[in-house]
Amino acid sequence: MATIKVRRFKSIPAEITVPGDKSISHRAAMFAGLANGRTVISGFLPSEDCICTVHAMEALGAEVEWLEEREGVGYVTLAITGHGTKLKQPTKVIDCGNSGTTTRLLSGILAGQPFTTTLAGDASLSRRPMKRIADPLALMGAKVEGQGEKICAPLHITGGDLQAITYHLPVASAQVKSAVLLAGLFAPGKTSVVEPVATRNHTERLMSHFGIKWLRDGDTVSVYGNQTPRAEDIIVPGDISSAAFWMVAVAAVKGGQITLNNVGLNPTRTGVISVLLSMGAQVTDSLVKSEGEPQGNITVKGGDLNAIVIGGSVIPNVIDELPILAVAAALARGKTLIKDAAELRVKETDRIAAVADNLRRMGVPVTEFDDGMEIEGGAQLKGATIDSFGDHRIAMAFAIAGLHAEGVTTIENTECISTSYPGFERDLNRFLQASDGAAAIPVLDRMPRGMGLETLSAADAAE
Ligand code: S3P
Repeated sequence: MATIKVRRFKSIPAEITVPGDKSISHRAAMFAGLANGRTVISGFLPSEDCICTVHAMEALGAEVEWLEEREGVGYVTLAITGHGTKLKQPTKVIDCGNSGTTTRLLSGILAGQPFTTTLAGDASLSRRPMKRIADPLALMGAKVEGQGEKICAPLHITGGDLQAITYHLPVASAQVKSAVLLAGLFAPGKTSVVEPVATRNHTERLMSHFGIKWLRDGDTVSVYGNQTPRAEDIIVPGDISSAAFWMVAVAAVKGGQITLNNVGLNPTRTGVISVLLSMGAQVTDSLVKSEGEPQGNITVKGGDLNAIVIGGSVIPNVIDELPILAVAAALARGKTLIKDAAELRVKETDRIAAVADNLRRMGVPVTEFDDGMEIEGGAQLKGATIDSFGDHRIAMAFAIAGLHAEGVTTIENTECISTSYPGFERDLNRFLQASDGAAAIPVLDRMPRGMGLETLSAADAAE
């Protein structure tokens, strides 16, 4: 079992460049595999989840060339050559690993293929509800069989002649929306999805990038059937969900400052910026690219954080950031309420239970609700042994908590971090080293939080 040991931070790097966006990387690989021709994807996130998607597209007939590596991260540039939307029947079960996105979006594509495919994954994935995609895909004419009432993986999907539907999403889920839109590519006519609350719109933006016609009318997104994506090279921006860990790490440090470079700034994903602003952090972003997927730099200046209520329509926008925002709440003065977030219970683990359990281990009073939690922040966090529950975002959120805790925090079961952030530990270590490379600055341990901080120069940071 891999573990990470964290102590109070000794310095703050001036800047970090996080790896590529997970949601966009999955979708880029899928559309490239459905296109006719070769697409070069750069800035790709070579995490286990996204690699599962690439291997799946390969098993379905696309050719993959791994082109360029980033040290400590993996292959960030690859080319995928697709042969159109009529895919090849795979000879084996497709392994979706830990990835809900791979499973749900791919199910939409497989619903349009005239053969049976089996999608399987790890223990966590096999507990997650797939009924949410099985229902609409069945309405369109596909057969999706799974285990038990929740229709869990392994899934057996038999596609075929699909019919267009209008589907009202019962849960605000970009994955379900995307599964239906992808299936819509195989149904003659117009397939529509009505969203109760806006969710991330990467599928829509990537459809535009790959030349697919779609439209949005209020809360309804529609796509026309019988379209083949047009191969078109794409650059994936950094993942704001990964940047969020460093944003919170610094937001609670008076005098601290960090810039996250080339992060995706799609407004359906920037809720974490608004939440931190409401908590009193100074966060600015500067757009460097606005077409396609917007991208830019985020600078966070730390200070005292205040408790707030996080709920309502912002929830889908910050759904993946809620574990790290719960850590921000523990560092803030007062009681923060997270509500309307019952979806957290069906992520890679039950993230309400996992966050509450681990915060309590660090000495933070937490009250759990069905749809969220109340966190009483402001007291000094205490180092503890943390269980990631095999969930990458829990492991990383509590590594950040450890940077602010007294004593040592040991995060157990950290292999899962490679699901979304290869290179996380290396970036984390930059906070644990003194900026002059010395092992420690003992006086820092006795100073109040944020005092005596050193910020790495750009040259140091580049090392
Ligand atoms: C994702 C959507 C979200 C998110 C997940 C990635 C996507 O899930 O939690 O990490 O890429 O569409 P839901 O849409 O199911 O909430």
